[in-house]
Amino acid sequence: MLLKGKKGIISGALDSQSIAWKVAERCVEEGAQIVLTNAPVAMRMGEINALAEKCNAPVIGADATSMEDLQNLFQKSMDHFGGKADFVLHSIGMSVNVRKGKPYTDLNYEWMQKTFDVSAISFHKMMHTIWKMDAINDWGSVVALTYIAAQRVFPDYSEMAESKALLESFARSFGYHLGTAKKVRVNTVSQSPTMTTAGQGVKGFSEFYAYADKMSPLGNAPAEACADYCVALFSDLTRYVTMQNLFHDGGFSTMGMNPAVLQ
Ligand SMILES: NC(=O)c1ccc[n+]([C@@H]2O[C@H](COP(=O)([O-])OP(=O)(O)OC[C@H]3O[C@@H](n4cnc5c(N)ncnc54)[C@H](O)[C@@H]3O)[C@@H](O)[C@H]2O)c1
Repeated sequence: MLLKGKKGIISGALDSQSIAWKVAERCVEEGAQIVLTNAPVAMRMGEINALAEKCNAPVIGADATSMEDLQNLFQKSMDHFGGKADFVLHSIGMSVNVRKGKPYTDLNYEWMQKTFDVSAISFHKMMHTIWKMDAINDWGSVVALTYIAAQRVFPDYSEMAESKALLESFARSFGYHLGTAKKVRVNTVSQSPTMTTAGQGVKGFSEFYAYADKMSPLGNAPAEACADYCVALFSDLTRYVTMQNLFHDGGFSTMGMNPAVLQ
């Protein structure tokens, strides 16, 4: 019961493969009370309602690029909790250029801006809303999911690489402000490739998934293990970890070459 008495807002659970779905389940297992949120279009697909029922959680729709929607989300969540939140998960990503098959050397910049807005600026907007509404308790925890393409080149990840670099930078910069004012920590978790809707949108994903699995001494970290790690970061056991990009990747990020890949 690591999260007993804690209240959290979890974005990004689209279907049972979503990393956020597993995080929501684990948080509730550990005693937390949660609110689920996703873009209205994702909610219309309906699967999130099954999770909501299982977790006894309300679903509050919010397009994470809209400040108005985010204000509504945090206000309704605080009304529901009867107080502020203790933890927030940002688990949102989408690239328009990747989705439309545009190569990196010929990107559409309007789409790129949309990608940055959805995948990275939404994180700043979330923390901005938390800040403005004083929506998180002292010693709270904010986590966003990211990928190692922020630091190294993974050509098929395209403009999502820059989105993740921006996201990680927002975690550091806002981590300073939220830490100083409220002792709230902000971290990003850099997760292994994971078989989800967003993951599988990347070209050649299954081959790459197998490569990363071989390259990592522990193998790819599954979504369930990522959920465990998020629980740890939301719990009181990690109160002084902040402004970090934390690799949850079975060791992939530290490898140069693994003989297993050559075989
Ligand atoms: N799957 C992977 O290989 C992998 C690896 C590392 C990091 N991540 C990151 O994990 C996070 C979750 O992705 P996932 O793999 O669970 O895939 P997913 O497709 O299940 O989740 C992505 C979520 O983003 C939501 N979303 C998109 N646009 C939105 C908007 N405007 N407002 C609110 N929500 C919106 C979608 O509805 C969906 O629920 C993303 O940030 C992703 O980049 C994924």
